[in-house]
Amino acid sequence: MSCVVAPASRGVQARAKSVAETLNLEFVAIADDLDSGVALVIDTDRSWLQRLQSPRLGPVYIDFSSADMLYRRKSGHNEPLGRAIGVKGEKRPKVFDATAGLGRDAFVLADLGCSVALSEQSVPLCYLLEQARELALMSANDKVVEAVSRMRVLCGDSRQQAIEGFDVIYIDPMFPERGKTAAVKKDLATVQALHGDSSGANDPKDLLVWAMAQPVERVVIKRPVKAPALGNVKPSHSITGKTVRFDVMVKPKGNGR
Ligand SMILES: C[S@@+](CC[C@H](N)C(=O)[O-])C[C@H]1O[C@@H](n2cnc3c(N)ncnc32)[C@H](O)[C@@H]1O
Repeated sequence: MSCVVAPASRGVQARAKSVAETLNLEFVAIADDLDSGVALVIDTDRSWLQRLQSPRLGPVYIDFSSADMLYRRKSGHNEPLGRAIGVKGEKRPKVFDATAGLGRDAFVLADLGCSVALSEQSVPLCYLLEQARELALMSANDKVVEAVSRMRVLCGDSRQQAIEGFDVIYIDPMFPERGKTAAVKKDLATVQALHGDSSGANDPKDLLVWAMAQPVERVVIKRPVKAPALGNVKPSHSITGKTVRFDVMVKPKGNGR
């Protein structure tokens, strides 16, 4: 199993056991002796992921009120993503994020005013996303509360979800970590470890084929700046940021919508 549930201390063992049962994951009283996979560590007020294989790396939290998220909100590095999705003037597209992960891109979009469904196949990530959303709803920062009020979490394979009432499907497949900061590398390496050796369990090209067949206006894919287009499908246009590129497929009117 690539993810186990462990208590942060003896005092929260019962709570961790109950989470393990609910999520149908294996419970371990002490994760320190394990050397592969990831632990979902449960504490009194919050939980996190701890990579168990070497190098151990630090804990990975989802916190929509964190300094990192506040920096993202203010730094303007949301702009290329917003443009790719189609945020313009008063227009705020409804987004289906088919690869929610740690919810960072989804939060950026919600903060720009979009309503966002965060669809994630990994059960521990869904748990953390929902917990982070609930905590952020109690934030003292009104902007954070407004943003997370526009977010909802859906657990399971995105290709099994009903796509109704969305304007855009957004896809951020796993990609090699080159060019990222140490913190982002650590977080993505931990998310990758959740999937064991299967690097996301399914081929992102399949996700693109599925997305293109859905009743939405556009599909947006995040790519490394210099990578070829996913599946060699030529995008309608691309928006290039400092470290990533967003390939935008605008679907012809009447195509599935
Ligand atoms: C690179 S991460 C996304 C990071 C995210 N954009 C963020 O800002 O935190 C890719 C995520 O997509 C998820 N994923 C991949 N294929 C999926 C599918 N078919 N359905 C749902 N989630 C999927 C993986 O489990 C992984 O958590």
